Amino acid sequence: MADDVITLLTTDHRELQRLFEMMTSDKSARPLALPLAVAMLEAHSEAEEQGVYPALAREAGEEAEAKHATEEHHEAEHMGKHLLEMDWESEEFDQALRQWIDAVQHHVEEEENELLPALREALDAARLEELGLEFARLRSQALAGQPLKAADGADETRAELYDKARELGIEGRSTMNKDELAREVHKAEGGKG
Ligand SMILES: [Fe+2]
Repeated sequence: MADDVITLLTTDHRELQRLFEMMTSDKSARPLALPLAVAMLEAHSEAEEQGVYPALAREAGEEAEAKHATEEHHEAEHMGKHLLEMDWESEEFDQALRQWIDAVQHHVEEEENELLPALREALDAARLEELGLEFARLRSQALAGQPLKAADGADETRAELYDKARELGIEGRSTMNKDELAREVHKAEGGKG
C-alpha cells in the first residue's frame, strides 16, 4: 500500500527542513544544499498546486486557503531563485536565507496545521492514497524538468494553450504545435503547471 498524500507531503517538508538546518548550521554546506532545496521546493509546490490544491478547494471546500497557499508558494519560489544569484558568503545572503526559511516554515506550518487536517477530514483513505500517488508522479515530472501532465487525461487542448500563450504574449505562437505551446506557456508561467 502506498503512503497517503498527507504522509508524503509531511515527509517532503521534513526533508526540506533538513536542508535548511544544514545551511544554517554550516556555511560550507550551502553551495550543495541551496540548489537542492530550491529545486525541491519548486517541484513540491508545483505538484501540490496541480495535484493536491484542486482537491483541497473542490473536495474539502478550502478554496480561499488553496489560493492563499499558492500565493505563498510563488513568493517562496521567487525568494529561493534570488538566493541562487547571491554570494553565499555575504551578510545579505545570511539575511535573505533567514527570510526565505521563515517564509517557508510559516507556509509549512499553515499547511500541516490547517490544510492537511481539512483534507484528512473531508477525503476517505482511498482518495488520500490516490492523491499521494498523483503528487509523487507530478513531483517526479517537475524534478525532471518536464511539463506537468495530469494523469486523468485532462490535458489542455491546443486551443486552450493557444489562448494562454496569447494572454502571456508569447511570440511565434501561431506556428507552434501543442507540445511547443505547452513548453512555452510553462516557461512563461515561471515553471508552474
Ligand atoms: Fe505547500
